[in-house]
Amino acid sequence: MYTLLKQEGTARRGEFKTVHGTVQMPAFMNVATCAAIKGGLSAYDLQNINTQVMLSNTYHLHLRPGDETVKKLGGLHKMTGWNGVILTDSGGFQVFSLAKLNNITEEGVVFNSHIDGKRIFMGPEESMRIQSNLGSTIAMAFDECVENPAPYDYAKASVKRTTNWLNRCKAEMDRLNSLDGTINPHQMLFGINQGATYRDLRIDHMKEIAALDLDGYAIGGLAVGEPAETMYEIIEAVEPFAPKDKPRYLMGVGTPVNILEAVYRGVDLFDCVMPSRNARHGHLFTWSGIINIMNAKYELDENPIDSECDCPVCQHHTRAYLRHLFKAKEMLGMRLAVMHNLYFYNTLMQKIRDNLDAGSYEVFYQKYRNILDKRI
Ligand code: GUN
Ligand code: ZN
Repeated sequence: MYTLLKQEGTARRGEFKTVHGTVQMPAFMNVATCAAIKGGLSAYDLQNINTQVMLSNTYHLHLRPGDETVKKLGGLHKMTGWNGVILTDSGGFQVFSLAKLNNITEEGVVFNSHIDGKRIFMGPEESMRIQSNLGSTIAMAFDECVENPAPYDYAKASVKRTTNWLNRCKAEMDRLNSLDGTINPHQMLFGINQGATYRDLRIDHMKEIAALDLDGYAIGGLAVGEPAETMYEIIEAVEPFAPKDKPRYLMGVGTPVNILEAVYRGVDLFDCVMPSRNARHGHLFTWSGIINIMNAKYELDENPIDSECDCPVCQHHTRAYLRHLFKAKEMLGMRLAVMHNLYFYNTLMQKIRDNLDAGSYEVFYQKYRNILDKRI
């Protein structure tokens, strides 16, 4: 259940109660696609970097180790040791972006596994059954995410299919939650707004799904080829039609500045591989911009990555040491870098919440929107 605590312009400070704890919003979910944070962070590491929500993937866990196996192990919470909130993406996006797609029909999607090429069918019912076996706190609806730019007629037909799939997801989730032996009988369902870059399709779709009284609403199909300004315009267009008493989740976004801009426009929840992926390439976020730790100028630099950062890495290690670890290709380098970057994102969200609480979000936003994405 979502409670709106405070509003500044369109920006929202809220909290979201679930059976696995309360999420303070706006929040950033830490991505653990295959039930592990890439770079080697465990569930207990996540507690040390103030993570609120872990995000995993239906598609990947269905292929390996298999959702039936995860169920036998007691679900994702038990398997990973993470007791907090878990959101699982539906497989929709991954099937379209990763797998060799064979065929898409009204029923669902036939694709080839990116691991062994095996032919697999997934439709809304399959996605819900898999997510029910995983036992996540929040399941995402099975949707079609089209790449931008998309032809209008294709986008329109695709949205219609996504709406039909959403109705089937809801019916199947209600059925699964009522069965004996379901890992999480309180599993929640979020719908996903689509419609490419077309305002009319986006707005009509948001109105349609808002009527379904789901647990939350995502905006999907963004950050897939369109300029950032277009993404902000779409958020502004659909925001008035998203239920005020439900969380709004912008899928797969983004840079620190994308997050500042989206919170400004009324978004409550985010996920992105950027902090962990950039970290693995030595690109580290700081409150003055992004640094590349491989740069020669850090060879003898005994300062922490960021003197303003309170993370475990910045408390104990120098830039010079991090640079050495990356040069020597030591696993520890990536692990520490991922830890710092995720801590940075989690802290960014904490600062956003603190400023919303204090009524000073506008000042915070104006101060950092020209700094945080800059390479220094
Ligand atoms: N992740 C990023 N974008 C999307 C989307 O449009 N749909 C789904 N299911 N996941 C996403
Ligand atoms: Zn740090």
